[in-house]
Amino acid sequence: MTQGVQVANTLKQHAIWQEGHTPEPCTIVIFGATGDLAQRKLLPTLAHLMHDHPLQEGFCIVGYARRPMDDEQWRAMALEALSKYMPEDDKLNSEGQQAFAKKLFYCQANLDDDAGYQKLSDLLTKLDKEQDTHGNRIFYLSTPPELDPDIVERLGRAGLSQPEWQRGENAHGWTRLIIEKPFGHDLASARELNVDVGKSFHENQIFRIDHYMGKETVQNILAFRFANGIFEPLWNRNYIDHVQILVAESLGIGSRSEYYESEGAIRDMVQNHIMQVLCLIGMEVPAAFDADSIRNEKVKLVHAIPSLTLEQVNDCTVRGQYTAGVTDGIPTVGYLEEKGVNPHSHTETFVALKLFIENWRWSEVPFYIRTGKCLPSRSTEVTIQFKRVPHQLYNPDDTKGLVPNRLVIRVQPDDGISLKFAAKVPGAAQHLASVDMNFSYKTAFGIQSPEAYERLIADCILGDSTLFIRRDEIEESWRIIDSITKVWEKMDEPEIHPYVAGTWGPKQADGLVEKDGHEWDNPSK
Ligand code: BG6
Repeated sequence: MTQGVQVANTLKQHAIWQEGHTPEPCTIVIFGATGDLAQRKLLPTLAHLMHDHPLQEGFCIVGYARRPMDDEQWRAMALEALSKYMPEDDKLNSEGQQAFAKKLFYCQANLDDDAGYQKLSDLLTKLDKEQDTHGNRIFYLSTPPELDPDIVERLGRAGLSQPEWQRGENAHGWTRLIIEKPFGHDLASARELNVDVGKSFHENQIFRIDHYMGKETVQNILAFRFANGIFEPLWNRNYIDHVQILVAESLGIGSRSEYYESEGAIRDMVQNHIMQVLCLIGMEVPAAFDADSIRNEKVKLVHAIPSLTLEQVNDCTVRGQYTAGVTDGIPTVGYLEEKGVNPHSHTETFVALKLFIENWRWSEVPFYIRTGKCLPSRSTEVTIQFKRVPHQLYNPDDTKGLVPNRLVIRVQPDDGISLKFAAKVPGAAQHLASVDMNFSYKTAFGIQSPEAYERLIADCILGDSTLFIRRDEIEESWRIIDSITKVWEKMDEPEIHPYVAGTWGPKQADGLVEKDGHEWDNPSK
């Protein structure tokens, strides 16, 4: 057994509820309970969370949706979702399933009907008494984003958004709101949504979710940077040549054409997930490991990324769209042939960008970002490319193919970190080669990382907003994206370069790094 496995076993690190943080009882209300996200992710996640919950008895889930159903039918639907979507290793035995089902309740009502919210309010009061949920409530909006402002307003009108101190004399408990991405479509709509939500909920009640922040390997970026003494002194413009962030997906858009057509890769992936990874890679050391300190540093980092000018958008962004090809060994149609996609669509399924962070640490260090659908593999990686040695002692012939030190943080799959360095090839000659020092989560800890949603929902129950996105951060991030999309939208002839599905994007994206004397660090499949 490796030391990591021993440590993991001793600390029970796979357990989602941390020792010393007892979760309080609560009811979680899912809006859009019969939808895809609820079935695929939320119900299995909640079942697992409840199974491990030290206070199972005071934990309830209410499904709020239009479809006529009673509690029993909703329970049957949920159990079916568990059997379909719960990972094999987490599957509950029949006793566990029944215990979970007993805690499910259904509120059948339209989302735009005030009477429905009153009915919900009555049900929640009843559950507080009968199930001992202590008046603690989480409202989870798993609904199309355009409906969010209306739902939030109606929650407010029904008196459901109020925290303890506003709910009248005998009131008790807390109220929290979880909002899924996309949070707005641009800066103006994100601001408007923030204002709307802010009319009913306080900022400290609002938990804007970005599931990348729930990924163990994304959180490990902080541990790697701030719990190790040897990397931080090198983590700056003096030693780092450039940084690459890649979020590649081998799948196409699936059945999400309506959503994807209006978002494209930049809104779907860059504004949120990639910005989060970028923040953790680039931020300064926080004063403490708490929500405010960490989020303050993240906001400062995004704030230091200037909006792009028209010239910069032309020079530093490349858009692509997949054409028919083969991914994961399966023939794939082109984006324009996907069901529901406008055959003349200009939506990008691939984007490559170069950004700069204007502060002392990162001045003049390019951050190259790349994401796309139908690429050769599913792979999220950060490459920190260190500078060359100031003077190479060895003969050019002996160092052919040698790359300067490179640190690769693999977020998924095969989570881990590797460091490339030069080593002497054994023998009389002085030939050098690049070799890898490799850390793998699986080998070191021998345990499966928890599902991202599980970590995030557990944190919301615990009232810890560290991994959630604050209002100012969302708006800063939209400011940068807007500066790009506004230029794109004004182009008479949008430059969307085709790439064959199953390749690493259009060749123009290679040009983006090659003109700076670099090349993309593509993962080996
Ligand atoms: C979602 C995007 O937020 O993240 C999807 O809308 C994308 O288009 C998904 O496929 C990627 O998540 P993960 O966890 O598979 O990298």
